[in-house]
Amino acid sequence: MNYNGILIVDFGGQYNQLLARRIRENNVYCEIVPYTQCLEQMKTKKPLGVILTDGPSSVYWDNAPMVDEAVFDMGIPVLGIGYGAQMMAHVLGGKVSHSEKGENGRVKLMAGSSKSSLTVHTSQLFEGIAAETMCWMSHYDYIDILPDDFVETSHTANCPVASMEDPDQRLYALQFHPEVQHTPFGQKLLKNFIFKVCECEPNWKMSNFVDETIEEIKATVGDRKVLCALSGGVDSTVAACLVHKAIGDRLTCIFVDHGMMRKGEGERVMKLYGENMNLNVKCVNAEERFLTKLQGVTDPEEKRKIIGEEFIRVFEEEAALLNDEEGGIDFLLQGTIYSDVVESGTGPVAIVKSHHNVGGLPEEMKMQLLEPLRMLFKDEVRTVGEQLGLAAELVQRQPFPGPGLAIRCLGEVTEDKMRILRDSDAILREEIEKAGLNRSIWQYFTVLPDIKSVGVMGGERTYDHVVGIRAVNSTDGMTSDWARIPYDVLDVISRRIVNEVAGVNRIVYDITSKPPSTIEWE
Ligand code: XMP
Repeated sequence: MNYNGILIVDFGGQYNQLLARRIRENNVYCEIVPYTQCLEQMKTKKPLGVILTDGPSSVYWDNAPMVDEAVFDMGIPVLGIGYGAQMMAHVLGGKVSHSEKGENGRVKLMAGSSKSSLTVHTSQLFEGIAAETMCWMSHYDYIDILPDDFVETSHTANCPVASMEDPDQRLYALQFHPEVQHTPFGQKLLKNFIFKVCECEPNWKMSNFVDETIEEIKATVGDRKVLCALSGGVDSTVAACLVHKAIGDRLTCIFVDHGMMRKGEGERVMKLYGENMNLNVKCVNAEERFLTKLQGVTDPEEKRKIIGEEFIRVFEEEAALLNDEEGGIDFLLQGTIYSDVVESGTGPVAIVKSHHNVGGLPEEMKMQLLEPLRMLFKDEVRTVGEQLGLAAELVQRQPFPGPGLAIRCLGEVTEDKMRILRDSDAILREEIEKAGLNRSIWQYFTVLPDIKSVGVMGGERTYDHVVGIRAVNSTDGMTSDWARIPYDVLDVISRRIVNEVAGVNRIVYDITSKPPSTIEWE
């Protein structure tokens, strides 16, 4: 950890990535590590502070994930959140109990203990925060008895210890979640922790990152060659641009067009790669090959797996050809970013969908992996892209899943269903842009549920496809809310799709948030 930052120890909490983002927003570096590696990583990475995250367990369960007591004796400030707070109490000799009632949602938080409320906070962690404010709670277990030397620093009507601390040992525990927006003072509190308690420097800046990473790539690659699989997405594009800056034409790129791109996208992206980035790119048209492999496949995870594997096969073949022509390619560049790494599981977090761009590399590939963006979040990647002077169209591109339109086409993927998706998606995009909403809606696309419905067109009965509109607002794709597209815009979109895309007679609008849904339908 060469930026003297914060180590986030993962106990499976659903907001862990958000927590990491909140810390990095302050230009302080942080990393999420599995709880099993906590002590070892503290010793090797020498963080200035540690956060024990929330998680779904109870401290008194058999085999509950537990932190080593030695973590609290290393002289490094520790902040426990939710389960992390309870664990701190439990391990240090306090008592955690269960309440049937629990506390969920926005709750009033008051300074001091339940026995003596304070009119002003005295804790350094709460400096500048109002004595009475709202916070976000989500728990049934609670800290019942404090460990020795700890004091309560806040409480709620139902939770006697909403926070506690031993300031001499710099140990702090919060039952509420400072990282979510429903805790309005949360960012202030996290700032107090990282700057006042841990004394971190705000030295995690993308301009430094760019310069240092280019130097690192030069040193790692030397005069050898790098191969990159470009997807058209922000991540692989920025990764390629970074490496291109470092080693120039010793980087060769392959763009595998799997045929499940949006309308006109393949050509547009290739043009930008050439004109805007001056990259050496070979485009491989493999549409037929992918469609053949997907014939008869309806299971979402199987589709993802097939596409991921086929992608690697095509890429391998092309790489072998290039290797024969140019000889000795030593590195494979991938645009893996931090959320891919974390979502593929650092800790006890359930894997919801297997992401296309992580793992899956066959062992026999003898190239070393180069992943310069591995520690960056999406918006940090975009900032790097801007610093590198990439076209806004590439940097601000909405997220597009690796398996492409295949995971928006429920059931079997066929050429005709791809046509419907591509054409309806193009209309949606055109109308959203016309309405000036393209910058304000985070991601929008159409989906093709595998259903048909009865309609009437030109006086004739039809039995045709239903197209769904999905539009969401999000900051990082981890959670999202459905976007409120104005009715008149939806009306135009609906009329146009039904009239212009053959085989569609009904449009529906997806009004679910994530969770409980996901953004994509598969
Ligand atoms: P979900 O559907 O998991 O999507 O809520 C969250 C965000 O991730 C995108 N997504 C993917 N991106 N490879 C990617 O690079 C994938 O396999 C993949 N699956 C989903 C999705 O578009 C959304 O922005």
